[in-house]
Amino acid sequence: MQRQPHLMAPGPTPLPPEVQQALARPALYHRSAAFKALMGRVQTGLRAVFQTDQPVLVLTSSGTGAMEAAVCNLFARGDAAVCVNGGKFGERWGKLLGAYGCEAIEITVPWGQPVTVDAVRAALDANPAARAVCVQATETSTATRHPVAELAALVRSYDGRRGHDVLLLVDGITAVGVDDLPMDTLGIDVMLAGSQKAFMLPPGLAFAALSERAWRASGRSDLPKFYFDLTAERKNQAGGATTYTPATALVVALEEALALIAKEGLPHTFARHARLAAATRAGVQALGLGLCSTAPANAVTACWAPPGVDAEVLRKSLLANQNLYLAGGQDQWLGRILRVGHLGWFQGTDILATMAALEVELARIGHPFPPGAGTCAAAGVLWGDAVDLASAARLRHDARHG
Ligand SMILES: Cc1ncc(COP(=O)(O)O)c(C=O)c1O
Repeated sequence: MQRQPHLMAPGPTPLPPEVQQALARPALYHRSAAFKALMGRVQTGLRAVFQTDQPVLVLTSSGTGAMEAAVCNLFARGDAAVCVNGGKFGERWGKLLGAYGCEAIEITVPWGQPVTVDAVRAALDANPAARAVCVQATETSTATRHPVAELAALVRSYDGRRGHDVLLLVDGITAVGVDDLPMDTLGIDVMLAGSQKAFMLPPGLAFAALSERAWRASGRSDLPKFYFDLTAERKNQAGGATTYTPATALVVALEEALALIAKEGLPHTFARHARLAAATRAGVQALGLGLCSTAPANAVTACWAPPGVDAEVLRKSLLANQNLYLAGGQDQWLGRILRVGHLGWFQGTDILATMAALEVELARIGHPFPPGAGTCAAAGVLWGDAVDLASAARLRHDARHG
């Protein structure tokens, strides 16, 4: 008997049964009263997760579509924007701006490090015409968290100091529903998310919320846009209808996912992600696998493969022998790292299973570590306040064996 692989990747993420059942429901006509009412209900849930009073637009696209929508709706031809490039997704901001004839003022950050507020301030000061700062909340390719709250404070400090607004565009595709980033309170201008991440849905929906400043900026945008015309979407979605046919089944399932998040309670959702991430970090480090990031994320953990070991070979053996699916590295980190996703529908035992599987496959290739070190370290973080696992096990062992 072979079950589905245990998916521990940073998206697509596993689907809760409530979501799977919703996906199997009969088709819903997207211009029906029932669908309009559904759009109204998911809007309430989305605003709660984004922590905003602004509309959260539902786009039928992958996350990159939301990034593209942000660029083509907020900028005008020849505009310049500061972009944080610390990995594959940061690089994407620059490519998108270039594709629309805008200037990307790139801050190149070494992979695995967060951008510093000073670097962004310096870029803004050296480029008074810059209209925005574009950043990832979590740079998924390196499992690194950029300091979004601090960057928001910095960008807001430019309010009223220039002849134009400076906007903060945050790709929160692997951060919304994971980290506490209250959009309105922090003063974030654009927040983006994707269905296949902490929203526990299949890929196919992206979400975009814009501040009043951002909506003002959209008024001067002269970049080409058609499918991703956010002004049209805002108008139509206010009445419960998307401009074009949406992925209706995903919107149906989204209501269930939002209900699960509401039931857990956002603070608990954030705390669970933080705990799973801390447990994963403790586990891999106890196995002698160093962390790739100096500011590790709560959505995904990246660690180095043991010296001389091809991480892709290790990933293949984890899948073949343990039925465990981890993500690997991209570009210069391909073959060098493993990424453990833990955003969305995950619990402590998923992390323990990952550690146990890693232990077996690492032992198989002769990588040395104290037996059980990964599972014990992870369990210690997950439940250590309830039980001192290592000493409890040792005491019982000592009692039994004298
Ligand atoms: C931070 C971040 N931005 C953008 C994307 C791109 O999203 P998609 O692959 O859904 O287009 C991803 C996908 O993993 C991501 O993690």
